[in-house]
Amino acid sequence: MSRTSLQCRECKKEYETAFKYICEDCFGPLDVKYNFSRVSKEAFSNREHNYWRYFEFLPIEDKSNIVSIGAGMTPLIKADKLGKKLGLKNLYIKNDSVNPTFSFKDRPAGVAISKAKEFGLSAVGCASTGNLASATAAHAAKGGFPCHIFAPSDIEMAKITQALSYGANYIAVDGTYDDANRIAAQIGDSKGIGIVNINMRSHYVEGSKTLAFEVAEQLDWQVPDQLIVPVGSGAMLNAICKGFEELQTVSLLGNVTNMHMIAAQPHGCAPIVDAFKKKSKDVTPVENPDTIAKSLAIGDPGDGRYVLKRLQQYNGFAEECNNEEILDAILLLAQTEGIFTEPAGGVSISVLQKMVEQGKIDTNDKVVCYVTGNGLKATESIMEGLQKPKVLKANVAEVSAVVN
Ligand SMILES: Cc1ncc(COP(=O)(O)O)c(C=O)c1O
Ligand SMILES: [Zn+2]
Repeated sequence: MSRTSLQCRECKKEYETAFKYICEDCFGPLDVKYNFSRVSKEAFSNREHNYWRYFEFLPIEDKSNIVSIGAGMTPLIKADKLGKKLGLKNLYIKNDSVNPTFSFKDRPAGVAISKAKEFGLSAVGCASTGNLASATAAHAAKGGFPCHIFAPSDIEMAKITQALSYGANYIAVDGTYDDANRIAAQIGDSKGIGIVNINMRSHYVEGSKTLAFEVAEQLDWQVPDQLIVPVGSGAMLNAICKGFEELQTVSLLGNVTNMHMIAAQPHGCAPIVDAFKKKSKDVTPVENPDTIAKSLAIGDPGDGRYVLKRLQQYNGFAEECNNEEILDAILLLAQTEGIFTEPAGGVSISVLQKMVEQGKIDTNDKVVCYVTGNGLKATESIMEGLQKPKVLKANVAEVSAVVN
């Protein structure tokens, strides 16, 4: 018997696991449902040091279908120096910028491509704001799949270079992420391509649950009080909640209902923050996103409504920050904790700072801030907040004058 089934998030209708992602009755999204058996904490003591250590919670039937490039088990850093600056005694940074392709997207992409192998698909792809492109392309290379990337044309050069290097067919669309997404959806369905974040989405999102599993295990199976999550489509925030809930279901964690989820978005593309502040249940799309946090520039977030529900369920908040605040936060994190993040991570840190200033986070709270992408992927925009070094003559006297 299959370990998993698919269940509609809206009407709860169940389906046998298959290459499908939308409910036939109500068009709601399908989620993976598991027949869990109890797992002990000790079971994890000598497992592999990557996210496949949580195999029981991932939707792959046969381990031989796993396509892994060793992602996951990234450091959870006790950020005492940054914490002191912000007035927090128990601040942790989940540094997911050090995954093999340098963003958290290795988690959902790896699970989706493993499932594509299990389904026997012949090609994969994705619609991407930049990071998913490389995560999908790298796993496709490892799994032996042709890979088609659909992305807006204006993303960072490092992200394009990286995805091309893995051998992907890179289609730069003259338009927004939403345009690229719409085209990817149509081409994926008509050509039978497993588009990881569209027609493979039910399985794809499962990978991001491991951001909850690792944090829980790294905190010695304790539930954090506050979680700050950068939000684009909202898939990751939703998956983190599902992950904590599943750990409670199998008794690896106690009650998770008291944790607070905080959604962080950049000004210029903050449709979920807008809806939250207006107390609306629906998200009004941003037509032309404008932010240096290009990886979060998703004007019409697929899981937006569900993020709003999660914020309500977990007594959460949503907040935004502008470009200048993002750049300041990138430098603050780099100069206190030695972690160099791209603008999406700057959004998390800036919103964390705002939550403390607004009194929404207490000094003693156990706070986990997710930093999900690497600064080396977005040096053009980060350089805007820095000064290019002046070139000096190779002369000791001249150089000595500027070393004080
Ligand atoms: C670095 C980074 N952080 C966060 C996100 C947001 O993830 P989601 O679209 O699941 O909300 C993205 C999305 O592309 C990203 O690249
Ligand atoms: Zn349904």
